[in-house]
Amino acid sequence: MSQIIVTIDGLSGTGKSSIATKLANKLGFRVLHSGLVYRAFAKLLLEELQCIPSKGLETRKDELVYIANLNRDFLYKAARGELNPEDFRDWGQKASEFAQLPIIREILLPFQREAYTKESFVAEGRDMGTVVFPDAHAKIFIETALTIRVLRRLNVSNPLDLKALEHPKSLLELMSLAKRDLRDTIRNVAPCRKATEAFVVINHLNIEVTVKCIIDYVSNRLNLF
Ligand code: DC
Repeated sequence: MSQIIVTIDGLSGTGKSSIATKLANKLGFRVLHSGLVYRAFAKLLLEELQCIPSKGLETRKDELVYIANLNRDFLYKAARGELNPEDFRDWGQKASEFAQLPIIREILLPFQREAYTKESFVAEGRDMGTVVFPDAHAKIFIETALTIRVLRRLNVSNPLDLKALEHPKSLLELMSLAKRDLRDTIRNVAPCRKATEAFVVINHLNIEVTVKCIIDYVSNRLNLF
């Protein structure tokens, strides 16, 4: 069978990455981690070029393209999840700031589209189903309440532990996630949005139930098993 592409989009902390990995394992597919590409490029731009995310970056296009090409293996590795995600854990906010800029999205597009040339894969991110792979064979959009995402980030095992939400750490995390949600949702280019034909899944309490539901949907859609 030729290459199959399944997309999973959703905001930060919805569990996309774990779900994509579980789904890919079940299907024997690879995973494309687009968020890691944005994080890796943000780190490169700040550390190598001392760039800050601002509209003026358009004028430095040649430099940006040059640094991306010079580090092409690094960016492809990020896309294929071959870098240690822990090294980029604190780069979410900066990645989101750079990701608002059309020039950054234009430069990173081929690294996502060309990460796998033959193998089937599950692509996870914000604009996988809408912009990067509009012809994907199956599209999923994940939603999770902001408060549950905050508790997950803080490793609170009981998502109904409302007391934990009142902790100052929770409030800080809530502010940080809300800020990133807003930026990723209202930006002009490729905002995080459900593709019209996407299957919407609410991932609140039990990731195994969510994954089963997605596997059933994808198997039906692709006539697998
Ligand atoms: O999925 P993540 O949290 O690793 O992504 C980090 C940031 O990168 C995210 O807040 C916005 C940006 N991003 C994007 O704009 N488009 C994608 N497809 C993936 C990530």
